[in-house]
Amino acid sequence: MTIRLAWPDVGAEEAAAVAEVLESGQLTMGPKVVEFEEAIARACGVEHAAAVSSGTAALHLALLALGIGEGDEVIVPAYTFPATANVALLAGARPVLVDVDPETMNLDLGRVYDAVTSRTRAVLAVHLFGRPLDWEELQNAVPPDVHLVEDAAGALGARWRGMPCGGLGVLGCLSFHPRKIVTTGEGGAVTTGSEELDTAVRRLRHHGIEPQGEFEIAAPGLNYRLPDLLCAIGTPQLRRLGELLATRAGLAAAYEERLAGVVETPAAAEGDTHGWQAYVVRSDRRDAALAALRAAGIQAQIGTYALHRLAAYREQGSFPGADRAFEQALALPFHSRLSETDLDRVTEVLTVYR
Ligand SMILES: Cc1ncc(COP(=O)(O)O)c(C=O)c1O
Repeated sequence: MTIRLAWPDVGAEEAAAVAEVLESGQLTMGPKVVEFEEAIARACGVEHAAAVSSGTAALHLALLALGIGEGDEVIVPAYTFPATANVALLAGARPVLVDVDPETMNLDLGRVYDAVTSRTRAVLAVHLFGRPLDWEELQNAVPPDVHLVEDAAGALGARWRGMPCGGLGVLGCLSFHPRKIVTTGEGGAVTTGSEELDTAVRRLRHHGIEPQGEFEIAAPGLNYRLPDLLCAIGTPQLRRLGELLATRAGLAAAYEERLAGVVETPAAAEGDTHGWQAYVVRSDRRDAALAALRAAGIQAQIGTYALHRLAAYREQGSFPGADRAFEQALALPFHSRLSETDLDRVTEVLTVYR
């Protein structure tokens, strides 16, 4: 039987919540959105969270809310899901690629310091695959007027030195895509401690309409809302966030036990908590291992993308850290339905390619 790469941990509770919304007759802009947003804010330890239609929408709105556009530079890792850089371009700014450390696969913070110019307005700081980026080192790498925005798309539940990722930056962006720990099918959220930025995000996600008072649009916005129907799916999972994370941490430990010495296994830095969005190992024989896993009926995938290899982001120089991560990273099946036998089957194939 095929071993799947991912399998959302949803069941009867989520189905009942969706049925309740259908029955209520209010499918969007209702109470389930508010309930979900409150739970997100609590999980990230921040005052405000606005639910939006995807992680990409969250990133886009974060930049727009900060007023970033034409003539501005936004630092992004050279190895990340392309949405991180796409939103900067679409906002009219210039995404400036910075290389990653091929071991952590997160931004190489020494290089961030070198990339800052007088036009740098923000860093889109990714906690890739749920591994917390060293936030203090990032803060030390840039001048205080550069906005630190978290791309915490895969880091809900992760903690940097005990503090929740998604609550570290001036704005935090989450994704609820089905490969994330909490899913709504598609969805995202923007978190912040700033009431002003929260209001700006809410305005921008709803056509630019002023949230209070007379109907007015001072500047155009988008429709990036997340309906009640989908928020209802997320809330029961957020209630179980600790349990979902413990299950994933248990799986990661079970993989670690089997794969240490076979491939390079992932871990958070000392004192941090990994969010385990995905279980991504590194191997010099990645392509052969990936082909063999697939041939054995095991769904596996590359980690993510080296942006300078994509037509939209060429000609920014060379990024050896991102190249190495792109060539070595291998995402293994990772979800709560995996059995010990499944893990053994994965291990058996990988052991051939050690
Ligand atoms: C690091 C990172 N940023 C942004 C996104 C975009 O999120 P979404 O798919 O919800 O738009 C993803 C999604 O995989 C991601 O991994």
